[in-house]
Formats: sequence, C-alpha cells, structure tokens
Amino acid sequence: MRNYVLKGNICYSKSSKELCIVENGYVVCKDGRSAGVYETLPEIYEALPCYNYEDKIVIPGLVDLHVHAPQYSFRGLGMDLELIEWLNTHTFVEEAKYADLEYAKKAYDIFVEDLIDSATTRACIFGTIHTDATLLLMEKLENAGIVAYVGKVNMDRNSPQYLCEESAEKSAQDTQKWLVDSQRFQYVKPILTPRFTPSCTDELFERLSELQKKYHLPVQSHLSENLGEIDWVKELCQGTQFYGESYHQYGMFGNACPTIMAHCVHSGEAEIEMMRKQQVFVAHCPESNANLASGVAPVKTYLEKGMKVGLGTDIAAGSSLSLFRAMASAVQCSKLRWRLYDQSVAPLTVEEVFYLATKGGGEFFGKAGSFEEGYEFDAVVMDDTSIRHPQSLGAKERLERLIYLAEDHHIAAKFISGRVIFREK
Ligand code: GUN
Ligand code: FE
Repeated sequence: MRNYVLKGNICYSKSSKELCIVENGYVVCKDGRSAGVYETLPEIYEALPCYNYEDKIVIPGLVDLHVHAPQYSFRGLGMDLELIEWLNTHTFVEEAKYADLEYAKKAYDIFVEDLIDSATTRACIFGTIHTDATLLLMEKLENAGIVAYVGKVNMDRNSPQYLCEESAEKSAQDTQKWLVDSQRFQYVKPILTPRFTPSCTDELFERLSELQKKYHLPVQSHLSENLGEIDWVKELCQGTQFYGESYHQYGMFGNACPTIMAHCVHSGEAEIEMMRKQQVFVAHCPESNANLASGVAPVKTYLEKGMKVGLGTDIAAGSSLSLFRAMASAVQCSKLRWRLYDQSVAPLTVEEVFYLATKGGGEFFGKAGSFEEGYEFDAVVMDDTSIRHPQSLGAKERLERLIYLAEDHHIAAKFISGRVIFREK
C-alpha cells in the first residue's frame, strides 16, 4: 500500500542552507513518491489513509554513502591505529572470514538487522572479495526492503595472501559472474568496488573499466584518506599528478561513471577541481577520520563549490552505524578543524549536516532524501518523548537534539519508497 498520509512535525532539506519545518503538518505518499508537504491537507488527499504521528518528528530516511558491512563485526576494536596498520592488523583478518558462508550468514544477519532498526533507508555498501558472501548480503538487504548499492570488493595486490585475488583476470571473471547473479534483485544494485588504488593493479583497473562500460555501473572507492596512503599512491602511479587521476585514467571518476569517493580529507586543488567537474560524490566520514587520525575533510569548501557530498559511517573505522552520530561528528570535527587548523573554512551548521545525511547523499540514488514533490518516499518517524526536557521546545530544537542524542534509539516508524518497513517498534 503506497498511498497514504503521514501527520506530524515534518522536517526536510531543500538545500544545504534551507531546512523546512512544518509543525503539525502532512506529507503525502503517492505511488511511493512524495506528493508534497502541507500545513492543511488538500481535499484530494482526504480520502487517503492517514497515519497520525501527532507530535512526533518526521524526517526523510537517512543515507549512508559509505559503509563496510563485513567490518560491522569488529567495530570499536583497534581504534588506536592509523589506516594501513589498521587494515593489516584488523580489517583484512576479519574480511577473510567471509570465505566461509556460515560465518557470513551470521555476521550479515546482525548487520542487516541493525540496519533495519536504524534510521538509514539507503546505503552504499562494501562487501568483501567473496562473490557468494556478497550475494548473500544483497539478498538479506533485498528481503529487508533496504535500497542499496553493494560492491564485491576487488583487490589483487598489496594484500595479504589470504585476502588477495589470484590475478586481475580471475578478479574480473568473479566480478562478471557476480554482476550477472545480482541482476535478480530489485532494490539492491551492484556497484564496482576497487578497494583503493594500492590494492588494484593497472590490469585490474583496465578490466573493471571494461565491465563499467559494458554494464553502465557506478563505482565506489577510497580517496586521499591518509597521508601515508597518498605517498604510497604517488610511488605506485608515477605518471599521475594526484591520487584521483589513478581512477580517472580508467574512466572511473565521475561523469559517465557515477562515482563515490570516501574521505577526500587531503585532496589538493587539482583533485578537488576534477571531482567538482566530474560530479564525483564525496562520502564524508568524520568519525572514521577521527578514529584513524586521518584528519578532517574541508566539507564546507566542498559544499560552497557546489560539489556532491553526503555522509558515510565507514564502519568499522567509524564505530557507529548511526547517521545521527555521523551528523554530530561532522559538526564537531569541522569545529576542531576551524579552531586548530584553518580559520578560512567555517564549521558546518546543523542545517548543513542534516542536508548531507538526507538530500546530499540521497542524490546518488536520484530523487531521494527529501520530501519535495516527486522524491522517493523514504521517511523515518522519531519519538523523542524519552529525551526529556523541562521546557517546551520547537520542532527545530527537537530535531537538533535528536541529531546529537538519538543514536537511532527513538525510531517509531520507517518507510522506504513508500513501503512500510515497520510502523511500531
Ligand atoms: N582504504 C582501503 N580500505 C579501507 C577500509 O576498509 N576502510 C577505510 N576507512 N579505508 C580504506
Ligand atoms: Fe571505507
């Protein structure tokens, strides 16, 4: 049933500067898309069923542009290391376990169950190199009704022997097979996922580039996260001017190839300009960047340049699956960046991070992440009655408190593309 009305305090972004709030308002779902937000319900919609959420807060579903599903099992561990050491000590060891489908089933059940309970309605997800485990993850997400891009990871160099694909050819063959097998899903789509330049040979990039063109696939990867990583890429790719070129030279950096690059903490001017021109999406992962001491990306600059930006939790470098937590971290990290490092880039506002977690990231999925007319109807109803306060607050203040305090514990209902995911917890 995809035609109905939600009543409550409706909050959504039109842009990074414009947060719209209609207290005691209505948002209409028609054929799985928003038919607009109203102070008074137009007569033509009066006959539709109305879910009355009274004084609760109704927001668009949140979008996680960057999360590693297999890493959910070790979140909160090894947070004293930087990127490369952390990958070698914890990450690769854990990801290797997904060769065993029994382990993958247990671990992905936990990940998907927690994702269902969260405020996240759409996500771009890394799996592992294993095709069967990745298909299993896709099936679980599909059954849960979550809209997602999921990637079988490619890595054929600089990886431990137990997590290194045998050759570029074998990696491409497995990827092709996985692409064909994943055509059966409706809500979950494949995305090419070369892990990052250090773990992919030129030959692998060439083969993935062929698959990208053949199947018109989007791409996700990592970019300019850590200073040591950037030096390493310089050594590996001697002909390139900057890290982003190592993807661009294979046509996997935006424009005809929709692309998400996680982090972009240390991107230089030329890289930033190329991302802007090519409309590459930046997945800003503030908690991860703090945990691995990577740094703080200049997100405000990216927004001011009109670039595409959303938020990522980057589990398990980020410890929390909650995009509320990611929003709060984004504000906090931007303030430290401003205070300690660069006063020419102002801290992020609540309006901006709410936009990033909804419409900013949602744009990767087309019209998603807002209640403006024609947008996919993804909605989350927040019940903040247990976040007690001694005075009466307006909807904007309540939304702000939810961003800082909710951690996905106060969700009363969740809808994706008009489908009811749950209506009572
Ligand atoms: N770069 C390459 N792989 C990874 C990963 O799994 N997590 C993070 N944060 N960065 C990476
Ligand atoms: Fe990552």
